[in-house]
Amino acid sequence: MSTRVEFDRESTAEVTDLDQTLLEIARATGIPHIAACGGNARCSTCRVMILDGLDNVAARNPKEAKLADRKGFEPQIRLACQTKVTGPVRLRRLVIDEEDRKIAQSSGRKATGKDRKLAILFSDIRRFTSFAESHLAYDVIHILGRYFRKIGGPVLEHGGYIDKYMGDGIMAIFGLDSRDAAGACRDAVRAGLGMLEELDDLNIYLREQFDTQFRIGIGVHVGPVIIGEMGHPKKMQFTAIGDTVNIASRIESATKVVGCSMLVSADVCKLLGDELVQGRSQSVNLKGKTGAHVLTEVLGLNERQPGQ
Ligand code: FES
Repeated sequence: MSTRVEFDRESTAEVTDLDQTLLEIARATGIPHIAACGGNARCSTCRVMILDGLDNVAARNPKEAKLADRKGFEPQIRLACQTKVTGPVRLRRLVIDEEDRKIAQSSGRKATGKDRKLAILFSDIRRFTSFAESHLAYDVIHILGRYFRKIGGPVLEHGGYIDKYMGDGIMAIFGLDSRDAAGACRDAVRAGLGMLEELDDLNIYLREQFDTQFRIGIGVHVGPVIIGEMGHPKKMQFTAIGDTVNIASRIESATKVVGCSMLVSADVCKLLGDELVQGRSQSVNLKGKTGAHVLTEVLGLNERQPGQ
């Protein structure tokens, strides 16, 4: 019996010895497949992505399973040095040159990209720039520190991941630990409501000490994102990218247009149904996006008891 192994955009091998690994097949075909640890399931530089025929790939052996788990590989990412095939497959080498090798070897568990459906929350302090311009640098940083400490609490409490701070803004990701998009939305909305409560508390302090108070805008959207670690090896950061992230950011900006504290997209509304205590809905053109988006103000969340 023989079978075809196609290395995407490189070469195709007709394989008769199915006891060979993909690494051995690549090398026999003249493909310069990188294998820094010599095929011992220690480096992951021989990694490939199975594009077609995943059913024709033998299950991971314990050595590969251990490394794949440590690196957080999706099922289609396989170690060529450990993988054998039982039928036709099409695959792509993922480590092509020296630069790729360094990235593959230095990257941690979250480094490989994954497509996920997640909820993204953005928030921002209204008119913070004018506040910063009229206060001492010490006070600005002190208050921002106090603010982030306050509003970060509900994000973490509801399972969110604080992706980044952008001046006085914050981006958080929800749903990383589950596959339940409705649950991700629920947690994001709970966190948003918690942030508004914390802000009320902070405003008491700000009124007393600085004769001012903050208003914030919060936007939540749910949809497909690509997650993974990105950046220079000395400053890698786990993050999410994609249109869902951009839309969530635009929804946060739209709170200024609608004149409310928290808005969610129609997708979030649909997933949460009557759990969401809704205020106004408004059709808004989001900057840089085509078509109007119906956004809904969040007033609260009907917390269901277990079993309801
Ligand atoms: S060559 Fe190192 S893990 Fe395959």
